[in-house]
Amino acid sequence: MQYLETAIDLCRAAGDILNYYASREKLVEFKGQANLVTIADKESEELIIGGILGRYPSHSILAEESGSTQAGAAVQWIIDPLDGTTNFAHGYPFYCVSIAVEEKGEIVCGAVYDPIREEMFSAARGAGAYRNGERLRVSEVAQLSQGLLITGFPYNFRERLETVIQQFRQFLVASQAVRRGGSAALDLCYVASGRLDGFWELYLQPWDTAAGRIILEEAGGRVTDFKGGPFSVYMEEILASNGLLHEQMLAVLAEKK
Ligand code: IPD
Ligand code: CA
Ligand code: CA
Repeated sequence: MQYLETAIDLCRAAGDILNYYASREKLVEFKGQANLVTIADKESEELIIGGILGRYPSHSILAEESGSTQAGAAVQWIIDPLDGTTNFAHGYPFYCVSIAVEEKGEIVCGAVYDPIREEMFSAARGAGAYRNGERLRVSEVAQLSQGLLITGFPYNFRERLETVIQQFRQFLVASQAVRRGGSAALDLCYVASGRLDGFWELYLQPWDTAAGRIILEEAGGRVTDFKGGPFSVYMEEILASNGLLHEQMLAVLAEKK
């Protein structure tokens, strides 16, 4: 698929920008108390948008740092130029670039690139998910008590602190262990790769989940809201798993507080 090739090329080029700034002084600005933006976020996004509009001038763009442009086109590119900015700013090596394509409201393909490990995760609807050309398949862990889960704490977690901590506590007790990675797009790709078995988070944005969602589904995983209903990248909640653990994870989310 032509769009996927473009997404992969631009993820890799943007990854070079992240690598360039990784070992250099980064100008950090604050969008909120814990919500950072660096020069690498901005340059990565500029490169990606320039690359897309150079090839597809009439397409819409939804990008974290510059918002929505030319909304209403049949094709929209959803971009996170650096997912895991806090990690990046501290030199903690877990972040990525994420680009997805939405056509008539459906995510049709996506790429997520980890420039440190040089891992390119990609998928197109109906064509499977891949990591550096190798087909991906979710894990076969079928008992939540044996599952390794991952989550994230949203920037506005203070507003729903009780819920965030309660869910964390419940999953911690029900699973083998819980990780907190700091990059939702990579979290989803790790579930797609079978390295992790399930993921949940509140208050993510479309650019955090659009590419990871299709990669996970194409690897055989399942993605829903917290009640098991259909997921949309415009929703405030995401539950993602290898499929086998999904009902057990839904039951945890439904537990009385
Ligand atoms: C963040 C990461 C993190 C998640 C936050 C996101 P950013 O994205 O995906 O894992 O917990 O909610 O905002 O700001 O680093 O692009
Ligand atoms: Ca993000
Ligand atoms: Ca970001």
